[in-house]
Amino acid sequence: MRDFIAGLPKAELHLHIEGTLRPEAVVRLGQRNGVDLPFDSASGVVRALADRPAGLEGFLDHHYLVGDTICTGEDFFEVTHELLETCRLNNIVYVELFFDPQAHTSRGIPFDAVVDGIQRGLEQGRADFAVDANLIMCINRERTVESALEMLDQARPHRDRIIGLGMDSYEEGNPPRKFVDVFARARQEGYRLTAHCDVDQTKSVQHIWECIDLLGVDRIDHGVNCIEDPALVAELVRRDICLTPCPVWRSTDPGPQDIDRIRTMYDLGLRITLNSDDPGEFDSGYLTDLMTGVQDPSGYSKADMTRLAINAFEGSWLDRVAKDRHIAAVLEYATSHGVAPT
Ligand code: HPA
Ligand code: ZN
Repeated sequence: MRDFIAGLPKAELHLHIEGTLRPEAVVRLGQRNGVDLPFDSASGVVRALADRPAGLEGFLDHHYLVGDTICTGEDFFEVTHELLETCRLNNIVYVELFFDPQAHTSRGIPFDAVVDGIQRGLEQGRADFAVDANLIMCINRERTVESALEMLDQARPHRDRIIGLGMDSYEEGNPPRKFVDVFARARQEGYRLTAHCDVDQTKSVQHIWECIDLLGVDRIDHGVNCIEDPALVAELVRRDICLTPCPVWRSTDPGPQDIDRIRTMYDLGLRITLNSDDPGEFDSGYLTDLMTGVQDPSGYSKADMTRLAINAFEGSWLDRVAKDRHIAAVLEYATSHGVAPT
């Protein structure tokens, strides 16, 4: 099964560039840029990762601390190029990559330096590893609406290099409706739209409704709590909205997180994909390891794993021709391994 999953052509739709830093990279970049960190060795970072409080806030506090070691366009280039190399090793042939502009511009790094560095990494990575990618800028939802609008202004010269708008970060007290005007403007400017609805937040279900009814998103990141509301599930299926849950795990977890609920989403006919979110910060790592760790305890067959891979291409923002080309490659792979896709 592991070999089958490893060879499966895959797309990754929920991955944050800032979450790809491995402990060694945190220390290397931190020292190079003179960033003051509460740890001076990779094992210190590993310990901090294991000890951090469970839940979104504990994760994010650590995530932004280590993300601040990325300081220059050259850093973004390096990190992005290395990510695409790792995608190649996982047979991830296409990635839609999140980045958090405000987390960097608020530290004085110009928006242009961030985008130019990442784009150079994507171009070099495409040439070196044959991995294709598109960029999604995320609103940090705890920041102001004005700050999000300013981000859209800064993105304007890069419009053709950023495919979509997302929204992430601290969800409690920051409902999707806060950013209705920002999403409306982004839609007008031609961006595709997605938003995080993290697991077990206060009012998770209401937030998913707001995302589809008020923000008009094409996709929902995480969205696991939708299964609590049959009318919401029916609407997500009817509109064919793709959801991107992340069954990640930490060394201290008994297994991949939320896999029973994610299996329920799959069985309800929702278009779900499996995603690694922040592979440098979870022990689940990248998709080959994550999907292998999830498959057996979830009871997914090879045909199910094939369906999940197809969902990711279908739910992506590639054009129809590219989607069909990738899906044909997945089907050919499955058939050559004696798997009849469902
Ligand atoms: N949720 C919210 N914010 C994030 C995440 C996430 O999964 N990953 C990185 N920033
Ligand atoms: Zn995420």
